[in-house]
Amino acid sequence: MRLSHVLSERRRLRFGSVCTMLRTSVLRLLGRTGASRLSPLEDFGPRYYGLGSLSARDDASDARAYFTTPIFYVNAAPHIGHLYSALLADALCRHRRLRSPSSAATRFSTGTDEHGLKIQQAAATAGLAPTELCDRVSEQFQQLFQEAGISCTDFIRTTEARHRVAVQQFWGVLKSRGLLYKGLYEGWYCASDECFLPEAKVTWQPGPSGDSFPVSLESGHPVSWTKEENYIFRLSQFREPLQRWLRGNPQAITPEPFHHVVLQWLDEELPDLSVSRRSSHLHWGIPVPGDDSQTIYVWLDALVNYLTVIGYPNAEFKSWWPATSHIIGKDILKFHAIYWPAFLLGAGMSPPQRIYVHSHWTVCGQKMSKSLGNVVDPRTCLNRYTVDGFRYFLLRQGVPNWDCDYYDEKVVKLLNSELADALGGLLNRCTARRINPSETYPAFCTNCFPSEPGLVGPSVRAQAEDYALVSAVATLPKQVADHYDNFQIYKALEAVSSCVRQTNGFVQRHAPWKLNWESPVDAAWLGTVLHVALECLRVFGTLLQPVTPSLADKLLSRLGVSVSERSLGELYFLPRFYGHPCPFEGRRLGPETGVLFPKLDQSRTWVVKAHRT
Ligand code: MSP
Repeated sequence: MRLSHVLSERRRLRFGSVCTMLRTSVLRLLGRTGASRLSPLEDFGPRYYGLGSLSARDDASDARAYFTTPIFYVNAAPHIGHLYSALLADALCRHRRLRSPSSAATRFSTGTDEHGLKIQQAAATAGLAPTELCDRVSEQFQQLFQEAGISCTDFIRTTEARHRVAVQQFWGVLKSRGLLYKGLYEGWYCASDECFLPEAKVTWQPGPSGDSFPVSLESGHPVSWTKEENYIFRLSQFREPLQRWLRGNPQAITPEPFHHVVLQWLDEELPDLSVSRRSSHLHWGIPVPGDDSQTIYVWLDALVNYLTVIGYPNAEFKSWWPATSHIIGKDILKFHAIYWPAFLLGAGMSPPQRIYVHSHWTVCGQKMSKSLGNVVDPRTCLNRYTVDGFRYFLLRQGVPNWDCDYYDEKVVKLLNSELADALGGLLNRCTARRINPSETYPAFCTNCFPSEPGLVGPSVRAQAEDYALVSAVATLPKQVADHYDNFQIYKALEAVSSCVRQTNGFVQRHAPWKLNWESPVDAAWLGTVLHVALECLRVFGTLLQPVTPSLADKLLSRLGVSVSERSLGELYFLPRFYGHPCPFEGRRLGPETGVLFPKLDQSRTWVVKAHRT
């Protein structure tokens, strides 16, 4: 038998017993075992953390998952809001990969949205040919995402030939199903938002010269009156199918308030939608097949990117669709939650599985915009705060349900307290030569820290709070997974940070620096304190990988955790406590590579200072 077979057989047996234990504890939680009393250990929560305890939905390791960011307009350089959108998708995708390490099972796309009136006008203003502007800004997005560690597997540009083929094919399908007709469209159009607006969504604003001009109520961007013959999509036919889809899939749009908003929109009449523009007006786009006098509406063009990436119109796309999670900002919810599912249903396809919606970053309480001159450059921030530091900040502070205000002092304060002091300090306390002179993962002593809380005896040193810590860290991976599933990544990080604080409290309580390796009374307990703290750090390092990949790598490498031991399926917390062997016990720590996260200087010059009113 080959070694790999032996190992996988062992792993299967190990998983088997873990799963049985987990199944048993789930049944217990549901009260189905009939046991009238729980033993102290059973009382105590999960013993192991393994693959089986994650939500059943996506546990099949070969189940495919396709994550997407919106594709970004190339009219202006990227800002921190764009990076945030991409980071959320990146963290979700990386967390998924931790659950199912088979790289063939996940796909993650991003890209640039290069057609439409907005880009045509921006190029004209800049005195550039549209292709020149697109190449320039698309390159900036690609560079930013590479620097920020966005682990995309695909980067699409809508000006690529493969995309034109996909869009024209998709158009053909809608046409052949009788969903497009030619009609006169008359109404407001907002070029900045690339959308049509009903009269009720338009207001008049005083201009600099005293005249008033029409703007979109939602975005404040100027609108203009349009009257032309276009192709029109029978969107009105899809109101009920969309309602059925959303009612039957309460998790389709997450967080829930956004799901609710879309259902409310659908309570109102859903007018048909103009899906082309006269080419004389809009030439920068994909022509309607068989009618060069019309250019396809940029949102229909852009949304199809999600299919182009997975090979549409070739049949291979079917193995990825609809196992799709779209990550989007709240401003583009209508396009993704109404137009896109309606187009898909019209083409005989399923709507995407999940749409995760986030809110926006503001600066001093204001929307970021070139005209206000308050755009925060993400590359400056990555340089200033490090890639991992800035990733951590955006994902720890960004709350999907509400807008979040950016200023630099907030970044410095958060990173210094959570990454430099709490996490870095903890690692240092457990690995520093003077406390851990052998530089190993010390042994855990079950006499000092028995599985059963409340035992008394000469060697027992663990206290009630120590059991609370073990319980908190044992349940942390599941909690984190649930937060990811609910698109509350900031809560996942909050939970990790709270456990880091608890672990620091544990170390502080037992002050290993006051214990002596030479003393027979102290040595076993000193080793146990360090062992528990290192085990907690191993869990934190594993769970932080999706957000701070380099920092987590540094942490896990210092602990001596090999790359194959870093997935969630391998994360068995504190096995010795539960009576199982621990593969790390006695292992040498990895080499010392300096402080985990260098403390940031408080007295820097800020890009954006706190806005005090
Ligand atoms: N091109 C369209 C999307 C087409 S997807 C088929 C678009 N592009 S965008 O460049 O304007 O926005 C891209 C993403 O960035 C959106 O999810 C948007 O919500 C997000 N953000 C833009 N400004 C933002 C903030 N200030 N804060 C957070 N996210 C922001 O819309």
